[in-house]
Amino acid sequence: MEKVIDESVQGKALLLENSEQNSRKLYIESYGCQMNFSDSEIVASILTGEGFNTTTRMEEADLILVNTCSIREKAELTVRKRLEKFNAVKKNRPGLKVGVLGCMAERLKSQLLEEEKIVDMVVGPDAYKDLPNLVREVAEGRNAVNVILSKEETYGDIAPVRLDSNGVTAFVSITRGCDNMCTFCVVPFTRGRERSRDPQSILGEVNDLWEKGYREVTLLGQNVDSYLWYGGGLKKDFEQASGMQKATAVNFAGLLAKVAEAQPGMRIRFSTSNPQDMTIDVIETMAHYHNICKYIHLPVQSGSNRILAAMNRQHTREEYMRLIDRIREIIPDCAISQDMIAGFPTETEADHQETLSLMEYVKYDFGFMFAYSERPGTLAARKLEDDVPEATKKRRLREIIELQQQHGLTRTREHLGKVEEVLIEGNSKKSDAHWMGRNSQNTVVVFPKAHYKVGEFVNVAIKECTSATLIGEAVGYA
Ligand code: SAH
Ligand code: F3S
Repeated sequence: MEKVIDESVQGKALLLENSEQNSRKLYIESYGCQMNFSDSEIVASILTGEGFNTTTRMEEADLILVNTCSIREKAELTVRKRLEKFNAVKKNRPGLKVGVLGCMAERLKSQLLEEEKIVDMVVGPDAYKDLPNLVREVAEGRNAVNVILSKEETYGDIAPVRLDSNGVTAFVSITRGCDNMCTFCVVPFTRGRERSRDPQSILGEVNDLWEKGYREVTLLGQNVDSYLWYGGGLKKDFEQASGMQKATAVNFAGLLAKVAEAQPGMRIRFSTSNPQDMTIDVIETMAHYHNICKYIHLPVQSGSNRILAAMNRQHTREEYMRLIDRIREIIPDCAISQDMIAGFPTETEADHQETLSLMEYVKYDFGFMFAYSERPGTLAARKLEDDVPEATKKRRLREIIELQQQHGLTRTREHLGKVEEVLIEGNSKKSDAHWMGRNSQNTVVVFPKAHYKVGEFVNVAIKECTSATLIGEAVGYA
């Protein structure tokens, strides 16, 4: 196995393990959530076994795969634009095959073959193990489609090829699918029902990452708090499990403790938490283990009870605020971040003000904020008119983003004068003389390199800040 450093589309370095016997070249691009990036590593692993090495030069590829996102219309339009680019490449490379993976594949199915002539293959998120067959089909000149969603597939038995890697931080997926049915969201349709991965295979992957020099893992799921292993099967079928299965079941707090104990030197993060499913156990487990990072991504989407109900979020504004209070009681310096949607159908100015006032209450450390985008097939699309004018959505979104920036600055200022443990991930974007890493709260910290190395934990004295970055100086190993 030779190690090759590549440049990905989004500018990040790819560290790929390529096999010398392999002669075909795979170019893979990923869009959307962390889960898609993690899935691409599984796909690369499956295709390595089929004679493919990855490349970052699409001009020399035999197969181009694009792992897609359907969460907002814009995400899909971006992918369609990329397909035009691949079409141009194909003009000089007639044998080139192009496949669409991920959520757009699942949502549009064979319709994609008709709408986008360049596409030869459409593969949904649960069908990647069928890729060897599908690739053979297209090599023989036929189009291939597999969009079957699974009740069991977790890819627990596949060792991902680490793409986009800094060699220090990695994603480990723990659940697939989502059972929540938020009315705006396409994910339950594109990723199917929720199922959890065997804790033994999760621990195996984490131990292997430690051996390879990784020092931080992020456990991934659409709704990690809902993790439940009882020997396999869908979350929704747990009630029918045997007494033995129920007695030995592992929930998310249990999984966190197992991972934290298996590798006490490894930092552990997780994403995403859902307010309706996050239990006090999880918060207490976080407080108990030093290596579980003090950061919770806790999307709320809106501060208005009326809108939360219309979104089918299973909690009120007040319940959410109580959960925030509990987090702050148990872990006083815990960072919290949000996802917000501006301009959900029927949202009034008063609803929007409720969102801003909830933000004032929490003062989030970070946020990911979006204008509502109607997604075909969702309950909101079927039942509610997308009635907030585009200009109003944009203005509300701008107000939310501006408030978040103020709160970000308030939060970063709280770190000034402290000495914080930072895991070095790589060069600072702005200067080769500085390292970039994160503290436990997930805030980016930049400092002069001195004699420290990537993958080391150092104590950094925080001296300055912007609304998103801390600037400091290392004072020794952590
Ligand atoms: N539980 C998931 C959520 C996936 S979607 C997770 O792991 O992150 C990520 C975010 O996209 C959501 O929290 C929501 O804020 C936003 N989003 C989802 N559907 C949307 C839509 N139709 N329009 C605008 N934003 C949307
Ligand atoms: Fe989507 Fe809600 Fe699940 S946002 S991913 S349906 S928790």
